[in-house]
Amino acid sequence: MTTTGAKPPGANDEASAAAAVREMFDAIAPRYDLLNHVLSANVDRLWWWRAARRFRAVLADPDAAVLDICCGTGDMTMALLKRRPRGARPILAADFSRAMLSRGAKRFGGPGVGARAEGLPYAVPMEADALHLPLEPESLDLIVSAFGFRNLANYEAGLREFYRVLKPGGQLGILDFSEPGGLIGKAYAVYFRRVLPAIGRAICGQAGPYSYLPASVGNFPAPPEMLGLMQAAGYEQCEWQPYTFGIAGLYTARRTR
Ligand SMILES: C[S@@+](CC[C@H](N)C(=O)[O-])C[C@H]1O[C@@H](n2cnc3c(N)ncnc32)[C@H](O)[C@@H]1O
Repeated sequence: MTTTGAKPPGANDEASAAAAVREMFDAIAPRYDLLNHVLSANVDRLWWWRAARRFRAVLADPDAAVLDICCGTGDMTMALLKRRPRGARPILAADFSRAMLSRGAKRFGGPGVGARAEGLPYAVPMEADALHLPLEPESLDLIVSAFGFRNLANYEAGLREFYRVLKPGGQLGILDFSEPGGLIGKAYAVYFRRVLPAIGRAICGQAGPYSYLPASVGNFPAPPEMLGLMQAAGYEQCEWQPYTFGIAGLYTARRTR
C-alpha cells in the first residue's frame, strides 16, 4: 500500500524522514518562536486560540485526559491550558525534538514552578514520537496537534496511533496549513514560496527549514484527501474548518467506537 508522509530533502525512507525532521527542529528551536510570529504576522495566535475554543467543552472537564502532540515550544499547549479549570488534570505536551520541547517546558508551569499557585492548570512535557506514543490504548479524551502532523513520516500511521490511544468518544484536532485556491491562493503562493523562505533564511541563517515549509505544505494532502485518510483510519464526524481564507485549517474527528 502506498502511504503518505513528510519528505524532507535527502530522506529516502520513514526513518530518515523522521530523523531529518527532528534534526531540523532541533536546529531552528532557538529562533522558532520569533520566526513564527514574524512570518505569520501573529495570525498564528488567533489560529491556536480558535482551535482551543473548538474543544472548550472537553477542556472544561477537569478529569479530561488531553494530549498536545508535536507541541514544540508550546503555543498550542498554552492556548489549551487557558481553557482548563483550576485543579484540572495536567495536559500532556509531547514532542520528539528535545530542543523544541525544553523551550516549551519552561512555560508549562506546574506545582511549585515560578510564581504559579497550587491548583493552576499546567502541562507535563514528554519526549515522544507521535508514531509510537508511550500511552495506554483508549486513554485520552482529546488529542490536538498544531502544525506538527504535516511533518510525520507516515500520515496513515499517525492517524492510526492517535486512534489507538483515544477513548471511544474521544476527539482529534489537527491544525495545519493548506493551500488556498483562487486569487488569494496565487498571491499567498508567492509569499509562501518566495518571500517566506528568504525571510526565514535571513533570520535563522539557514535556507533548509524555510524552503522545507512550503514544500511540506505542497506535499500535504488537500482537505478532501485528508478527510478520506481520517475516515479510512476509523474516525467519524470528520470535518475541516478553514481559517484565514484557507491558509490554515482545523481538522476535527471523533473515535466513536
Ligand atoms: C512546526 S512545529 C509546531 C510546534 C507547535 N505545535 C506550534 O504550533 O507552534 C512542529 C513540531 O512537530 C514536532 N514533530 C514532528 N514530527 C514529530 C513526531 N513524529 N513526533 C513528535 N514530534 C514531532 C517537531 O519536533 C516540531 O517541534
